[in-house]
Amino acid sequence: MAEAPVLTIDGPSGSGKGTVAAKVAQVLGWHILDSGALYRLVGLAAQKAGMDLSDSAAIAEMARTLPVKFVDRKVFLDGEDVSLAIRTETAGNNASKVAAIPEVRAALLGWQRDYARPPGLVADGRDMGTVVFPHAGVKIFLDASADERARRRYKQLKDKGIDVKLSGLIAEIEERDHRDRNRSVAPLLPAEDAQVIDSTRLDVDTVVDRVLQAVYEAYPETGCKSSI
Ligand code: C5P
Repeated sequence: MAEAPVLTIDGPSGSGKGTVAAKVAQVLGWHILDSGALYRLVGLAAQKAGMDLSDSAAIAEMARTLPVKFVDRKVFLDGEDVSLAIRTETAGNNASKVAAIPEVRAALLGWQRDYARPPGLVADGRDMGTVVFPHAGVKIFLDASADERARRRYKQLKDKGIDVKLSGLIAEIEERDHRDRNRSVAPLLPAEDAQVIDSTRLDVDTVVDRVLQAVYEAYPETGCKSSI
C-alpha cells in the first residue's frame, strides 16, 4: 500500500496546534492524531494508580498496555470517561513528566505511527516532524509568545468550565515548556525542514490557510482549495 500523506504540526502548549490541526483535518478529510492526549492519558493513569512519576520502568510498562478507547470525541480509560480529566493543567504537567521518560516515548511510537492511513494524517504534538514522522511531506512548527499562549489556554479552559488563574497558568506553561524543550529525548524543537509560523498576531483562519497552502504544494493531488 502507498504511504499515506502526513502533515505534522508541532509546537509549544497553547500555540494553537490543536485548533489548527482539527480545522485542517476537517477540510482535507484526513485522520487526526492528538499525540499529547496519549501522554496525558499515561500521566493520568499513573496518577490514578498512585505511581511515583519517576518510576520509569513501571510507567513505561503501563504505557504499553494502556486500556484506552476513543469513542466519537470522547476518551475512555479503563471504561471511565476521562475526556475532561486529561485536559486540566495538572494532567498537562503530569503528561510532560512522563513524556520525558525515553521508555514511555518508545512505548507510544508504534501506536502513533499506526495512525498514518489513507487518505492522510494530521499529526499534532512536539516531536511529530522530528521523531515520529521524519518523512512527513509537510512539517509545520507553530509558535507564539508565552503570554499569548497562556491567554489562549485560559480562554480554552474557561470555555470547558475548568477554573484557572491566569497568573498560575503563565507560570505552569513556562515550566512545562522549559521541561519539554530541555529534555534529553525528543525535545521540543522544529525539524530542520519545518516551516515555522509565529501565530502571536495571526488569527486561526490565516494560519489554517497557510498550512493548507503548504499541503496543496506538497500533495497536489489533494486539490488546490485554499482560500489564499
Ligand atoms: O499537547 P499537549 O499539551 O496535550 O501535551 C501534553 C504534554 O505531552 C506536553 O507538555 C509534552 O510534554 C507531552 N508531549 C510530548 N510529545 C508529543 C505530544 C505531547 O512530549 N508528541
